[in-house]
Amino acid sequence: MAGTPVSSYSKTQIWLHWSIAALILVQFVAHDGMEHVWRALRRGQEAAAGDWPLAYLHIVLGLAVLVLAAGRLWLRATRGVPPVSGMEHPALRLVARLTHLVIYALIFIVPLSGAAAWFLQVPGAGLVHVLGKNVLLYVVLLHTAGALVQHFVLKSNVLRQMLALRQA
Ligand code: HEM
Ligand code: HEM
Repeated sequence: MAGTPVSSYSKTQIWLHWSIAALILVQFVAHDGMEHVWRALRRGQEAAAGDWPLAYLHIVLGLAVLVLAAGRLWLRATRGVPPVSGMEHPALRLVARLTHLVIYALIFIVPLSGAAAWFLQVPGAGLVHVLGKNVLLYVVLLHTAGALVQHFVLKSNVLRQMLALRQA
């Protein structure tokens, strides 16, 4: 996950970061339709007609996360990313790197397990999906807290850079 060191994220990398974040936010806010449909199907019942559009939206947005995540990883490998910055203490740098690694893993594991449950009825995939999204939520909260501490306490450029507010 080290990537080639460059001095800043490209516009595409920044766009991908915030698009994935926005899509994941929608997935967390608007999952009721998918949950209702899934529960009904598992019980052999008919799902309410009004729940289907939200269930399909969940699938489409979730698969979009997967595609964008693949693009992001590809760019990371080919173009590179700036080194984790603003963290003087090696232990904090390690936490930041581990957090990124876990987030990268989960933006693949969560949609893939959802797809395995939905399309292939793989036993246990639904459970992996639900556990995975819980871990993703907490790791993203830690990641967000880290970014805000960087910006407001350590006064580093890391968040400005991810917001494209700095020419680097
Ligand atoms: C990053 C992408 C995704 C996120 C963040 C996400 C998030 C969620 C959330 C928050 C729930 C509600 C779980 C609960 O509390 O019970 C859920 C349920 C579900 N999602 Fe996703 N999802 C994503 C992608 C997908 C995809 C691509 C599919 C299918 C193609 C999918 C299929 C399902 C299914 C079948 C459920 C019901 C599982 C259950 O309740 O046991 N998800 N998802
Ligand atoms: C679901 C939401 C989010 C996901 C999945 C996510 C994912 C990631 C990942 C994987 C990286 C590492 C980039 C790389 O090296 O390739 C990253 C970097 C970053 N993210 Fe997020 N992020 C999310 C939300 C946020 C939020 C809400 C903020 C700010 C409040 C934020 C601020 C940053 C910053 C500043 C960096 C650069 C860190 C550095 O270079 O050391 N992220 N994000």
